[in-house]
Amino acid sequence: MGLSSYKSNDNIKVEPEPQELHTIMRLLMLDIHTINEGIYTKNFDLIETGAANINGHAALADESRQLVMNTLGDRMAQFGEYDNLVHSYADSIRDAAIQEDMGRVLEQYRIVEQGCVNCHAAFQDEIKSARLIRMD
Ligand code: HEC
Repeated sequence: MGLSSYKSNDNIKVEPEPQELHTIMRLLMLDIHTINEGIYTKNFDLIETGAANINGHAALADESRQLVMNTLGDRMAQFGEYDNLVHSYADSIRDAAIQEDMGRVLEQYRIVEQGCVNCHAAFQDEIKSARLIRMD
């Protein structure tokens, strides 16, 4: 998944430690909450922060990467495309927030949300089951 650096503040860029897939996902959901709060309180800084965090999520830890690759095989490319789409539109949310353009924030937000859900529709159950079986 994304290898871009995590923007913790304006001056220092910290490369986060790789994380397991479901941990990354829980954090993405928090980032979505942050963006939502920014939308409803018209706080563009919050929107910018949430969007930057989505784009800068940690890399996939080896164990999860292996699990996803073993589970998806040839379909790994499709998984990567969904990931790229979410990254690229999260970056567009960030740009729109910097420009304080709420209309464009919402436009890009809907695309990101659809991107999250499209990947889930395709792969979430399968990968989750594979993870739970492995943990037995
Ligand atoms: C490239 C595919 C992909 C994209 C894009 C994606 N997800 Fe996921 N997501 C998954 C998979 C696969 C799982 C199941 C992981 C598991 O259970 O091990 C998952 C699970 C989750 C879960 C449940 C975690 C849990 O503890 O059960 C949440 C919440 C979540 N994703 C949020 C998001 C959000 C928010 C976005 C968009 C910002 C997003 N995801 C984008 C693939 C994706």
